[in-house]
Amino acid sequence: MNDLSNYRKSYEKSELLESNIPEDPINLFNRWFHETEDFGGSEEVNAMTVSTIGLDGFPKARVVLLKKFTEEGFIFYTNYNSEKGQAIANNPRVCLSFFWHSMERQVIIKGTIQKIEESQSDNYFQSRPDGSKLGAIVSNQSEVVPSRAYLEENLSQLEKDYENMVIPRPKHWGGYLVVPVEVEFWQGRPNRLHDRIRYKAQEDYSWKIERLSP
Ligand SMILES: Cc1cc2nc3c(=O)[nH]c(=O)nc-3n(C[C@H](O)[C@H](O)[C@H](O)COP(=O)(O)O)c2cc1C
Repeated sequence: MNDLSNYRKSYEKSELLESNIPEDPINLFNRWFHETEDFGGSEEVNAMTVSTIGLDGFPKARVVLLKKFTEEGFIFYTNYNSEKGQAIANNPRVCLSFFWHSMERQVIIKGTIQKIEESQSDNYFQSRPDGSKLGAIVSNQSEVVPSRAYLEENLSQLEKDYENMVIPRPKHWGGYLVVPVEVEFWQGRPNRLHDRIRYKAQEDYSWKIERLSP
């Protein structure tokens, strides 16, 4: 039996008050991201969960790495033919979430998703180590493979094929931009009275800020 009912933690590290937040959620995200980098120890700050609605109607969540964020939104890289790629092609509404446990913080982003410019994917692809480039070529991400040996043999073959050559980005591998429509910031507080502040995009491009009950 694994009874976890005594796992209990009091959250006391910080607070999130209307008097101390920017008008734009990207600015607040930026502040929290860098605070986690500075004070969060070895945490993989840019690891985030991407949730999609699959072709089978089920939601699916998996971790990917955030590679860039700007006023426009949040960029990550993956295989466009993967299970998530197919889900996105069918339904471009996704959710990103971050759990920065060292800071007792969570951020949840609902948004619409689109492929980034091919030239931007090319640039990022070329910045990666050769091993990662070849890995992206070898992996038909999310497809069933006969064995690990099958992947390793294909990788060795590619290493020979591309020796001393520029490794081109496969067309089915590239970046996605998530444009936020709603961003919720959660700060753990004592007695379960956590702070929750939600930014909702308005038609005039401003953000509506509301506090949610914990
Ligand atoms: C820490 C971490 C980082 C990851 N980063 C990425 C990434 O940037 N891109 C990616 O495609 N998969 C990444 N993955 C693997 C994904 O979680 C997932 O297994 C893969 O994208 C296939 O998902 P899908 O079959 O649902 O499409 C990462 C996994 C972990 C645990």
